[in-house]
Amino acid sequence: MSGLLSNKVIVVTGASNGLGRSIAIGAARHGARGVVVADLDEVPREEATTSTSEVEKLGVPARFVRANVTSPEDNDAMMAAADELGGINLMVANAGIVLPKDEGADMPAAAWRTLLSINLDGVFFGAQAAGQSMRAHGKGGSIVLMTSVMGFMSNSMSIAYSTSKSGLIGMMRGLASALGPDGIRVNAVAPGPVESPMLHTDPDFFAANEKLRERFLLGRYAQPDDITNAVAFYGSDLSSYVTATTLPVDGGLIASL
Ligand SMILES: NC(=O)c1ccc[n+]([C@@H]2O[C@H](COP(=O)([O-])OP(=O)(O)OC[C@H]3O[C@@H](n4cnc5c(N)ncnc54)[C@H](O)[C@@H]3O)[C@@H](O)[C@H]2O)c1
Repeated sequence: MSGLLSNKVIVVTGASNGLGRSIAIGAARHGARGVVVADLDEVPREEATTSTSEVEKLGVPARFVRANVTSPEDNDAMMAAADELGGINLMVANAGIVLPKDEGADMPAAAWRTLLSINLDGVFFGAQAAGQSMRAHGKGGSIVLMTSVMGFMSNSMSIAYSTSKSGLIGMMRGLASALGPDGIRVNAVAPGPVESPMLHTDPDFFAANEKLRERFLLGRYAQPDDITNAVAFYGSDLSSYVTATTLPVDGGLIASL
């Protein structure tokens, strides 16, 4: 336990799998007071145990909220669950998708709208609910939006995803400006490819990432804990004067492009 998040109540969206799961469990390891796990389904895709049970094993209270981030009401339900644990201090708007098959410039309208509604609307509604709850509690807080290195670059098969992730950087700056006077910091974490199930969703997607591999200055994919630790920094008092920033956690990828 690092104690970085001691006395903090954390809400993580998309927390049943992948990075969200790592962040939720990692928050408990960093000493959180309580963790709200929000996702469409509590049962993980591949792991044998739920995120909430792993958090509880570490002696930290947890709540699961069945939520679709595109619903403002579901985001409010997450805040109500956080209230039961003492009130939200850190919101991690992590839930996001890649399309199973990204059809680039010929993408059908329905697929475009689905991706943007989860990756942009869903993040905004989460940050909005968190900001309102933090304001009501009057003790400030920290909101982290999960963007990607694809927020800084794009390619022919990543138009919608890159649009959503670069959109989050603008969203984060605007929210930081709106919420700063209430002591609420808003930042973004931009992972490069992480060794996680998302990487293997589609063989073409994996192949595209493998091409980038030689540009990772650290010579390896990120592990989920690399991202968790960046989120923990933003949630902790160590970053008390840091707002409106984007932290690439990419092993130097962007710098080498
Ligand atoms: N894995 C990577 O390499 C990588 C790199 C950069 C950024 N990211 C970003 O990190 C975030 C998490 O990615 P991941 O790799 O852990 O993905 P993942 O697919 O492993 O997990 C995403 C979780 O979000 C949930 N989710 C999806 N739609 C939802 C909705 N509408 N409401 C609530 N929950 C929903 C899923 O059920 C799942 O549990 C995403 O925003 C992704 O864009 C991932």
